[in-house]
Amino acid sequence: MTLLEVIRKRYSCRSYQDRPIEQEKLDSLFEAARLAPSAKNTQDWRFVVVTDKATKHQVAETTNRPQVFEKAGVIIAACSNSDDVMRCGQAIGPIDIAIALEHIALQAAELGLATCWIGSFCTEKVRTILGIPDDIAIIELMAVGYPADSPKQPSREPIEKIVCYEKWQF
Ligand SMILES: Cc1cc2nc3c(=O)[nH]c(=O)nc-3n(C[C@H](O)[C@H](O)[C@H](O)COP(=O)(O)O)c2cc1C
Repeated sequence: MTLLEVIRKRYSCRSYQDRPIEQEKLDSLFEAARLAPSAKNTQDWRFVVVTDKATKHQVAETTNRPQVFEKAGVIIAACSNSDDVMRCGQAIGPIDIAIALEHIALQAAELGLATCWIGSFCTEKVRTILGIPDDIAIIELMAVGYPADSPKQPSREPIEKIVCYEKWQF
């Protein structure tokens, strides 16, 4: 598969097989995350990988789709210990985490796994369940697992609507 084919294959999976993910596949997801770029190469990301059924259930209960996400092979809590802001004014934590998570999502797609970003979760409950310290930001969760549905065609804006050249022309 070319990179663009993998990008086309990725979609937000909302139905998972109740099936564990092999350790080698998990390792390759985090190899993909590890190689992601980060501001000043700080790599201030930390990933808590939940495989235990009971803990997954508890974490999934804090999200908008508990019955879906508890079945995923793993739920990843993507955390940042950086509160740095770049000169442009943007926080580096969420940006670095987003890149690393999308590396994970694309590597998962390549391996025949499916993913879903989860921003709809209760931070404080997840913090307690996973024992994440107060000074660590829980930026996002991601469900990863074997899909029980089939990929959907994404609805997306055409290039002409989102790109202009040289000057702002929207
Ligand atoms: C930052 C972010 C947060 C998201 N949070 C959720 C979520 O909490 N629950 C959910 O079901 N999907 C969530 N999604 C998935 C989006 O709804 C999905 O990416 C979008 O509808 C496009 O569909 P696609 O991923 O299948 O291409 C999130 C996606 C992103 C990028």
